[in-house]
Amino acid sequence: MRRKGFFVSIEGGEKAGKTTQAALLADRLRQQGFDTLVTREPGGTATGEAIRSILLHSEDHGLTAVSEALLFAASRGQLVAEVIGPALEAGKVVVADRYVDSSLAYQGIALSLPFEKVMAVNEWATGGLWPDLTVLLDCPDPATAAGRPRKGEADRIEKRQEDFHRRVAEGFRQLALQDPQRYVVVDASLPTDEVAEIIGSAVYGRITGKEVPGR
Ligand SMILES: Nc1ncnc2c1ncn2[C@@H]1O[C@H](COP(=O)(O)OP(=O)(O)O)[C@@H](O)[C@H]1O
Ligand SMILES: [Mg+2]
Repeated sequence: MRRKGFFVSIEGGEKAGKTTQAALLADRLRQQGFDTLVTREPGGTATGEAIRSILLHSEDHGLTAVSEALLFAASRGQLVAEVIGPALEAGKVVVADRYVDSSLAYQGIALSLPFEKVMAVNEWATGGLWPDLTVLLDCPDPATAAGRPRKGEADRIEKRQEDFHRRVAEGFRQLALQDPQRYVVVDASLPTDEVAEIIGSAVYGRITGKEVPGR
């Protein structure tokens, strides 16, 4: 795949502010003249949405940890093939509300599946497409995000124990430390507009540094 666009993923635990910041970042990029697309996962394609309902809402189906990891990767692979890949080829900026790092943190680290296998299946599913930049919304105190309101009921994964979510947050921090070139870590407990400002400047700096063709 020839990549002319720019790919940024927004990562973090539950209610860290990913969806809020993905929308604010997209607004800002559009105002700056960038053709911008936001994706969310699991989902974002017909296949992905069907997988999403299995992953998030089928408490009674006895889904194994391995099946969970494979389904996330399958949904992600569809999203790359149908949406992210073509958008990048067309020179767009893609803002992904979660991507591969979510599987590495949730299934690989917090669920203790073999990390290399989770990595391998995601590399396979996505054709090895990694973001140019990954924003980690990190809540130093887990109580901060936990106290935020949520839209609707908690899904199957959100309902997991506090300890699981602590491992997720710690997992993301490890991933960021291992890949400091790609990651920007932002304190998610700051006010929304301050977080948006930090992310906006970091993304703009990287895009203009990289030169998105046609601009
Ligand atoms: N920086 C922030 N400070 C306070 N509340 C926030 C902040 N960012 C998001 N919120 C609120 O927290 C909740 C979860 O945000 P959301 O963007 O849906 O998180 P996520 O997509 O990471 O689960 C929403 O009610 C949102 O308005
Ligand atoms: Mg969200």
